[in-house]
Amino acid sequence: MNAQFDIPFSRRERDPLFLEYLKGYLDKELPLITNLANMAALIKTFYPELNWAGFYLSDGKKLTLGPFQGLPACTSIAFGTGVCGQAAKARQTLLVDDTAQFPGHITCDPLSQSELVVPIVVKNRLVGVLDLDSPVKNHFQKRDQDLFEQAVTLFIDIL
Ligand code: SME
Repeated sequence: MNAQFDIPFSRRERDPLFLEYLKGYLDKELPLITNLANMAALIKTFYPELNWAGFYLSDGKKLTLGPFQGLPACTSIAFGTGVCGQAAKARQTLLVDDTAQFPGHITCDPLSQSELVVPIVVKNRLVGVLDLDSPVKNHFQKRDQDLFEQAVTLFIDIL
């Protein structure tokens, strides 16, 4: 699917369009890494205000850097460490208003001021996490949590 992206400014229009494109790009015939690569690219295209958007994947022992858009990042995160590791361990979404106040936050990009991490759990197995970083404190709201949890659900649906 080729697309010319004309991204609406208003979130009320942008969010449903993003989910529509995501549905269009996700393809269960493709490898997981291929789907995640396009998902990271779509997130960064629709939400250019984020400085980092991508995935850490679980091998059952730790998280390893997966497809992403943004600056090069740390490659390995232990469960329970940083925002990603804690969200992975708890298998719960973590919304961090101020990364400087988060104990153990791992600074990959010094620009990151707030963060949203959504775990990807399929049939009780942790696949990885979606990690979104903003250069603005208090950027992520409940609507972002809902939106990106929905996006992760669309991804889970093709596995
Ligand atoms: N900030 C993350 C580490 C990954 S980078 O943001 C890409 C954390 O503390 O889990």
